[in-house]
Amino acid sequence: MIPQEYVQEVVRRTDIVDLIGSYVQLRHRGRTQTGLCPFHNEKTPSFVVYPENQSFYCFGCGVGGDAITFVRKINNLDYVEAVKALAGRAGMPMPEEDDKAGRLRSRILNINRDAARFFYAQLTASNAEARRARAYWKGRGLSDSTIRRFGLGYAPTGFHACREHLKSLGYTDEELLASGIIKRSQKGNLYDAFFGRVMTPIFDLRGNIIAFGGRVLDDSKPKYVNSPETMVYKKSKAMFALNIAKKSTSRRYILCEGYMDVISLHQAGFDTAVAACGTALTGEQVKLLSEYADEVVLCYDSDEAGQKATARSLELFSQSPIRVSVLNIPGAKDPDEYIKKYGRERFETLLNGTRNAIEYKLARIKEKHDVASPAGRLDYIKEAIGLLAGRVTPTERDVYAGRLAEETNVSKAAILAQLDGAIAQARRRASRQRQEALMHQGVASQIKVPYTMGGSEALGVANAEQQLVCALLKRPELIARVKQRILPERFLMEDMRNAYTAICGCQARGVPPELGVLSGMLSEEEISTLSQLLARNYDIALTDQDVELYMDRMERSLPRSREAGKMSVQELDDYLETLRRKKGAEEPGGSPGTTR
Ligand code: CTP
Ligand code: MN
Repeated sequence: MIPQEYVQEVVRRTDIVDLIGSYVQLRHRGRTQTGLCPFHNEKTPSFVVYPENQSFYCFGCGVGGDAITFVRKINNLDYVEAVKALAGRAGMPMPEEDDKAGRLRSRILNINRDAARFFYAQLTASNAEARRARAYWKGRGLSDSTIRRFGLGYAPTGFHACREHLKSLGYTDEELLASGIIKRSQKGNLYDAFFGRVMTPIFDLRGNIIAFGGRVLDDSKPKYVNSPETMVYKKSKAMFALNIAKKSTSRRYILCEGYMDVISLHQAGFDTAVAACGTALTGEQVKLLSEYADEVVLCYDSDEAGQKATARSLELFSQSPIRVSVLNIPGAKDPDEYIKKYGRERFETLLNGTRNAIEYKLARIKEKHDVASPAGRLDYIKEAIGLLAGRVTPTERDVYAGRLAEETNVSKAAILAQLDGAIAQARRRASRQRQEALMHQGVASQIKVPYTMGGSEALGVANAEQQLVCALLKRPELIARVKQRILPERFLMEDMRNAYTAICGCQARGVPPELGVLSGMLSEEEISTLSQLLARNYDIALTDQDVELYMDRMERSLPRSREAGKMSVQELDDYLETLRRKKGAEEPGGSPGTTR
């Protein structure tokens, strides 16, 4: 458990606009900031950040919360990890980690460090195997200093060398299994996960070794074996060489497909080369990169798989504030091969002539059509106009329309006229989508009433409960008074009851009931609901009179025969169920929602 005061301090030192702004391009809209929601795909912004109460809410997908919730969701962290991430960002020392999981985690990091030392020692040993491994790295053009900088090594043949060495250092088999450095066979025998492979350690941002990639020395399969996911290694979040790249003065990153590309580029002096580890690029990695890079050059393999990956990655980057461009590698299969064939200067020239995302997409469209024939040219123009009518600035439109005209020998005026038509059509479509989003918002803001409560009667009560909780969040000075009249048991909706209990708890301890504090006491979903309430009531002043009304409404809903406080939730449900049935029976055809 992290002390509540610590969390409060973390929240106090975090500015949510600043935080979210590093992931999402935000624009001022009155006292709020809006942008494209990072949690769902959208083309018109429905994601709102509220600096005043340090919360965010997306009217499109209904996700919302405070800074901690945001960090949790965007980086897929648990609560404690999120608090630590924010603390790190705010430059605060970490709270003590003394739990069991924390201990195993640090044991695994030690195992990885010791394994890397072992692999390095095996590489530099004076036996035939080591010579062969050294020859392999040399054959790939790597210098001794590159080998040391990346901590490269060699895992010897046989199945037990690594395990035996690590056991002699005092690690248990359980710990070694948890680290992924050894495996258990179907028969139950333990053996090394890596043998007869050259080894590349994968570091996290703090310089811990979190995993390994091992490559065969010849053409046998599988070419690469990678560590499994462990407590310290989540593939979708790791970025190879980011620990080195982040120290560069350049904020223009080079994103490659493979470890070898990255290592070659670094050796050639391009110190911002990074790669996703053994997977396709993920949204999480894009977000991680966006903390360090202003610009990313995609530098994937020139084969069809590489081009597919490029298209996918462009899509991912289009949601981030990073500028992205694409580098094509003529005459080589990947950057590693290119540098070896043509040298660093020519790669540098390539880097300076990269195409931006639009140029790249236009070129891909052009490749698809036979522009030598008039029909092919028209198809090319048609598809290109579809692209330019999308998310493109007016200046870019003008430039590319001009280029398109030159390429196809069609007048620029004609192309611009077609483009105008396409833009108008795109606008109509966008406005339709906005309307749908608004309807969606209407649905999202409708209260989720438990099935058993049914009917508009209950909806009114539910609404009163939510409004009361919201009023207390906005005006904590009212808590003391409300507490005297409304017991938590009086709440029919479980999430609001929990929220109310937590808010009262804060008040009793003299802590302000801010979302940041509450997020340690409530579920993610509950925090999301609270942020939704705050968003809905953002411009609405909830007066004392309103609060009285809410309390009245809640009290009227109670079964008169008995005190609600004495009823269990089950009894309450049963009671409401009978009310609902009665109501259904009175109305011809039954009320909506009573289908039976
Ligand atoms: N990869 C993997 N498992 C494989 C093949 C590839 O995990 N069986 C991952 C590795 O991270 C590798 C990346 O995909 O670095 C790119 O694959 P590929 O282009 O085949 O490898 P190269 O980096 O070109 O490797 P090399 O130059 O050593 O052949
Ligand atoms: Mn390669």
